[in-house]
Amino acid sequence: MKTSIFTFNDQDALAKSLSQKLNIQYSQVDIHRFPDKESCVRIITDDVTENCIVVASLFHPDSIGLPLLFLSETLRDYGAKNIILVAPYLAYMRQDKCFKKGEGVTARYFARLISRYFDALVTVDPHLHRIHELSEVYSIPSRISHAAPVVADWIKQNIKQPMLIGPDSESEQWVKDLAQRASVPFVVLEKIRHGDRDVEVSVPNIDQWTNHTPVLFDDIISTGKTMIETINHLKLLGMAAPICIGVHGVFSDKAYQDLSAAGAEKIVTTNTIMHPSNAIDLSQLIVNEIMDLKLL
Ligand code: R5P
Repeated sequence: MKTSIFTFNDQDALAKSLSQKLNIQYSQVDIHRFPDKESCVRIITDDVTENCIVVASLFHPDSIGLPLLFLSETLRDYGAKNIILVAPYLAYMRQDKCFKKGEGVTARYFARLISRYFDALVTVDPHLHRIHELSEVYSIPSRISHAAPVVADWIKQNIKQPMLIGPDSESEQWVKDLAQRASVPFVVLEKIRHGDRDVEVSVPNIDQWTNHTPVLFDDIISTGKTMIETINHLKLLGMAAPICIGVHGVFSDKAYQDLSAAGAEKIVTTNTIMHPSNAIDLSQLIVNEIMDLKLL
């Protein structure tokens, strides 16, 4: 069966790179917004293949969620039989339990919705915390690309004497793996979140590493507050300005500017969400997982 790639939501560069590596046709999708904010999805190409790959990073999930589901329906109306969703950043993974009475577990609801409209899912380092496997919530086949090998290479090639810092216990899984791959020391901090934009972190004794370059690593940089708070502590300890690496640069509102202003030496992200800070290309890792689905 022939396959082609469709993209929207600013993922053109990544989608093009995937299409070149997979040697398949690439096409954009037009989303027209009506004055009343309804949307109409239009496939630009006349050639909808039976296998389709939709590349959509879900960093503004509420505004692109509905057009994404419409795209799936539209592709099927035009002949698609299998649709793989490549969501390099997978939204709605953090509300993985009911934190306050009356709240819903949106990680489960979102997964159920996506599973109804797509036949398979490929993503990059989803925020797995209390949900341990995507298959606990997604009923479709799924594959995960792990950024660690490529990020570790980037650290080895670009940073002198790095010391990795994970801002909270959730980051330990990634930071430990990265540190082993790059053969560098690491520490994991404790974080208490008081609100969406109010976090507190505690830094253990890191006197022995003061001559190293601190490298803050987290899966997601959203408001940037987690990293900003960590930077403030590092300053008090007399550490050098850190390099901040995030797999997914969500950068809500002015987060990127705020993080720079707080004293980040450099901010680096992978290309799961298009942003000027993208310096680490994960396209080959994503291709490997698409192929591993054995649907093409
Ligand atoms: C949450 O546990 C994640 O791993 C990140 O630490 C978090 O999303 C970062 O958010 P923010 O940039 O808003 O502090």
